[in-house]
Formats: sequence, structure tokens, C-alpha cells
Amino acid sequence: MRLEHFITCSPGVEPILHAEVKALRLSNVEQQVGGVRFIGSMHDAWRANLELRTAIRVLQRLDRFAAPDADELYKHVLAVDWRKYLREDGTFFVDAQCRESELDHSQFVAQRTKDGVVDFFRKKTGKRPSVAKEDADLRIHVHIWKDRATLSVDTSGNSLHKRGWRKYQGLAPLSETLSAAMVLHSGWNRRSPVVDPFCGSGTLLIEAALLAADHAPGLFRSFGFENWPIHDLYAYGKLREVVASRIKMPRKLQLVGCDIEHRHLAGIQANAESAGVADLVRVEQGDALEFPWKRGWNAQILSNLPYGMRVGDLAQITQLHRDFGKSARDQCAGYRVALLVGSRQLTNALGFKTWDEIPIQNGPIPCRLLTTEL
Ligand SMILES: C[S@@+](CC[C@H](N)C(=O)[O-])C[C@H]1O[C@@H](n2cnc3c(N)ncnc32)[C@H](O)[C@@H]1O
Repeated sequence: MRLEHFITCSPGVEPILHAEVKALRLSNVEQQVGGVRFIGSMHDAWRANLELRTAIRVLQRLDRFAAPDADELYKHVLAVDWRKYLREDGTFFVDAQCRESELDHSQFVAQRTKDGVVDFFRKKTGKRPSVAKEDADLRIHVHIWKDRATLSVDTSGNSLHKRGWRKYQGLAPLSETLSAAMVLHSGWNRRSPVVDPFCGSGTLLIEAALLAADHAPGLFRSFGFENWPIHDLYAYGKLREVVASRIKMPRKLQLVGCDIEHRHLAGIQANAESAGVADLVRVEQGDALEFPWKRGWNAQILSNLPYGMRVGDLAQITQLHRDFGKSARDQCAGYRVALLVGSRQLTNALGFKTWDEIPIQNGPIPCRLLTTEL
């Protein structure tokens, strides 16, 4: 069956996700604000969840309709055969968003949608599923814009940035999906050494390792669709086997990092082991400004520099960017660089001659992802 899907991502990541979805050869792929749409089968939705590194959720659209009032919304919700997605004793949660519409109260919209689902089950089975915010068996999305509603089921369940390998958070980890977006956007050739001199919990190095090993990001975890009563366990198991059979650890790859904070080291090791890439990742405690760069190494620098969010930090962080930019310019001729930087001022402080940049939203922080060659 050909179903419409919308894959969400962080703002700014749309073109990177679009390229990933195209590479999966899904059909009718279209980049939109906040994500990428495609038309495909349930099998395609499985692949999207298993394989996309920059996606946050894969939503499957059930209906699109005019929703001028709550009765119309309720009627359409009631008309869906929810037994495909949820058991009568299961749990569900409704996420609602409304903009520029008569129905402009998202909690009310979520409530009426919930009523429709519960009444559907009551009528069909005499029983009802219950609502759970955490770990619900099914997440339902309602999006109303200019009085038109889109009703979707979330095939992913937990956000896809939760890969399942992370054992250690660190203080401000870059999400797995944004880290993967950086790795993909950097144009890294998957063979040359990678250095993250501000590596924190090691997310960038681990995501780079998984990419180089062709290890699909979803293989560590389960997805929302696995709870659906219509789920085809056998066919999905076959797909997982095929995807897992592609994993091939590169033998000579060097992924190197350092962080000034010693306390991250054991955590990075635990993360790398859990992701199965501990043999590729080598990290030490150290100052990025004293990193032993090798001449002619032609490495890829991939890093997420500190932002300096606390008052009083800015002067110090600007100086750190100035010093780091200088040491990279002086010692890393021929290296490629991809850095996630917190502001124009910090970007300028790096002192690169030329660079490309795209805006990326990192949670509440508007960042720039800049790429250049030294
Ligand atoms: C934004 S965090 C990086 C987060 C990391 N990408 C992750 O996913 O966990 C910046 C890191 O830079 C480290 N740091 C700050 N100054 C440093 C310096 N001079 N040399 C090396 N690391 C430094 C901090 O300890 C922090 O872990």
C-alpha cells in the first residue's frame, strides 16, 4: 500500500535529511519546512526508521481533512480503524499543534482526538485503551493549520535521536541526529582520520564510526510500529537481517578526540563500547589548543565548540575560538573542517579566510554549521 509519510528533523537539517531520503531511493520525496515527505509502503517506513541518521520521527499520515470545529475533528478520528495500531488494553498519547485556525487550543484538540480514539474502541470492543505520556504504545499526531487537519501515527515511538547506544550523557551532548547531520554535511570520505578536539561524550566520533561501518543507526533499538497489532514481525526481522549484514568495521580508520575534562573519558569509552566501535575511537584528556596535529595528515576536523551560555563566559569563549582558529590555520594545512559554532561573533573569531555555513537549530541555541578546507 502506498502511504504518505512525513519525516521530521531539527530546523536547518532538512537538506541533509532530504539527501539521505533520496539515497534510500524512496519515492515522491519532497523537502518541506521541518522535514521531508515521501510516499511509500510500511516496508519503506521501516527502512526510514532503521537507516536515516538525521531523522527525528517518521509520521505516517492517516487522513487530511477540513477541521473547522471540534465535531468535524472528532468525526474523522472516530472513522479510523485504530485496531490496526493499538490494542484495546494498550496506551496512547496525542501530540497536537494548531496554527492560524479556529481550533487554536492544542490541549483541547488533543483531548477531542483522545475522545475519538477511546469512543472507537468502546463501540467496537466495549473496552478502552488508556493515555500515557511516557512510553505510550502509540503516539498520534494532529496538526491543524489554516483549519486543515493532518492526522498521523508515529511509526518511530521514541525520538530517533535515542539510538540506544548511549550510556553516558556528559554535560551538553550534541544529539545523535545533529552529530550525524554534521558528519554527513562535512563531506567526510569515511576513510581519512577524524579529530574532535572538544569531544565531550564522543557523539560525533561514534556517529562517524557508525557511518563508516555502514551500521544503520536504528539497529540498536525498537520502534513504535513494533507495538502495532498489524506489525509483520517476520518480514521486519528479514529486513533487519539484511540491514545488519551490511555492517563492516573499517580496519584502519582513526577517530581521535580530546576533551579538557578528564571525567568524560570513561563515559566515552562506555558509549563507544556500547555502539560496538571502541576499536576505532581513541580519546585522551587534553587541551584542544595543544592537540598534536600531524603535518600532512589530511584529517577531517569535526567538532561542536563550547557556546558560552553562562553570563561572563563570552569573552573567554571568544578567545578560545580565536586561539583554536589560529592553531588550526597554522598547523592543519590540507585538513577539512566542519564546526558547529554558536554565533556570528564566534564564527568570525575563528579567523578562517573563507567558509560555507548553514543555520542549524540545536535545541534552543541557533547555531551555524561551517565547513571549510584549510
Ligand atoms: C559543546 S561540548 C561538546 C559536546 C560533544 N559534541 C558531545 O556530543 O558530547 C564542548 C566540550 O568542549 C570541552 N572543552 C572546553 N574547552 C576545551 C579546551 N580548551 N580543550 C578541549 N576541550 C574543551 C568541554 O569540556 C565540553 O565537553
